[in-house]
Amino acid sequence: MSHHIAFQFEDGVTRFIDASPTETVADAAYRQGVNIPLDCRDGACGTCKCFAESGQYTQGEYIDEALTQEEAAQGYVLTCQMRASSDCVVRVPASSAACRTQPAHYDARIREVRALSPSTIALSIEGDSLKKLGFLPGQYVNLQVPGTEQARAYSFSSLVQDGAVSFLIRNVPGGLMSSYLSGSAQPGDAIGLTGPLGSFYLRDIQRPLLLLAGGTGLAPFTAMLEKIAEQGSPHPLHLIYGVTHDADLVEVDKLQAFAARIPNFSFATCVASAESAHPHKGYVTQYITPEQLHDGNVDVYLCGPPPMVDAVNQFMREQGVKPANFYYEKFSASV
Ligand SMILES: Cc1cc2nc3c(=O)[nH]c(=O)nc-3n(C[C@H](O)[C@H](O)[C@H](O)COP(=O)(O)OP(=O)(O)OC[C@H]3O[C@@H](n4cnc5c(N)ncnc54)[C@H](O)[C@@H]3O)c2cc1C
Ligand code: FES
Repeated sequence: MSHHIAFQFEDGVTRFIDASPTETVADAAYRQGVNIPLDCRDGACGTCKCFAESGQYTQGEYIDEALTQEEAAQGYVLTCQMRASSDCVVRVPASSAACRTQPAHYDARIREVRALSPSTIALSIEGDSLKKLGFLPGQYVNLQVPGTEQARAYSFSSLVQDGAVSFLIRNVPGGLMSSYLSGSAQPGDAIGLTGPLGSFYLRDIQRPLLLLAGGTGLAPFTAMLEKIAEQGSPHPLHLIYGVTHDADLVEVDKLQAFAARIPNFSFATCVASAESAHPHKGYVTQYITPEQLHDGNVDVYLCGPPPMVDAVNQFMREQGVKPANFYYEKFSASV
């Protein structure tokens, strides 16, 4: 039985390979065309040192000059010695180009495009090639805008199921992708995607999680929650989902379904607009309670527009709380 190894490169590109428990991760990588840094292949030089973010593995044999005990305890590995005993995520201190690899391209077609509200579109795409698409929940791809040479970044809002995957897309008035999706897009239209990309993805859950979503920044969290619903979580998870106007609040039924499926998951919603009829008015930061910060023993994941990321950063500083880990994705405009 082989395991999936996700290599996370410095430039945000991810490549998945399969590794059997009997071969080294470096051998498996080269067999599949991913030339991670390598020299002695003997655990002596340290050239192949990477960081194992998650997964189980054996470290093999090496000398202290190549990998110190302290580094090994932190999670550093020598891939020329490492053998995987489960799926692993391995951070490579080099770009994908330096490792002679690049993000993969997939051809797909639109399965469904649906307006969830005047401001938000749900898109699902399908294709046989997507059955081979691997990504870490939270990551994004570049979706080519049909009929143009341009692409836009979108986070997966689901896992791949039966060769289909979904996105949650803000309808930006006059935007290139937005106009296509809200205008001429039809089921069956061809659409290409390149990826997966990004370092915003769900890590092993080692402490409570606080998930903060702004607008369509909800997308990566619904993908993460699908994964968490499959694997369970030993720690509490709380999501705060904030939007600007009442019409932007979508997929709440999906969140309720997750709350029913995942025993220690809870969520709250809020709307910033002064005209809102929502019981919780204001910004996400107004609804973060001290209990949810666990005196800093919390991993915070945040996804939304750039000003929200800055506001939450400032809020944490003002509270004097430094979360154990703070991961964020900014949905910045591409043009
Ligand atoms: C890593 C990453 C992941 C992303 N994931 C998602 C996602 O899951 N869902 C999603 O909805 N978006 C996401 N985005 C944003 C997305 O890539 C596009 O920027 C957005 O959808 C607009 O594309 P467009 O072609 O419709 O508009 P464009 O033609 O690119 O823009 C038209 C005009 O609108 C402005 N504009 C563009 N985006 C915004 C915005 N968000 N707010 C205000 N003005 C804007 C532009 O500056 C320009 O003037 C992500 C961005 C990044 C960088
Ligand atoms: S290549 Fe030299 S230690 Fe792995």
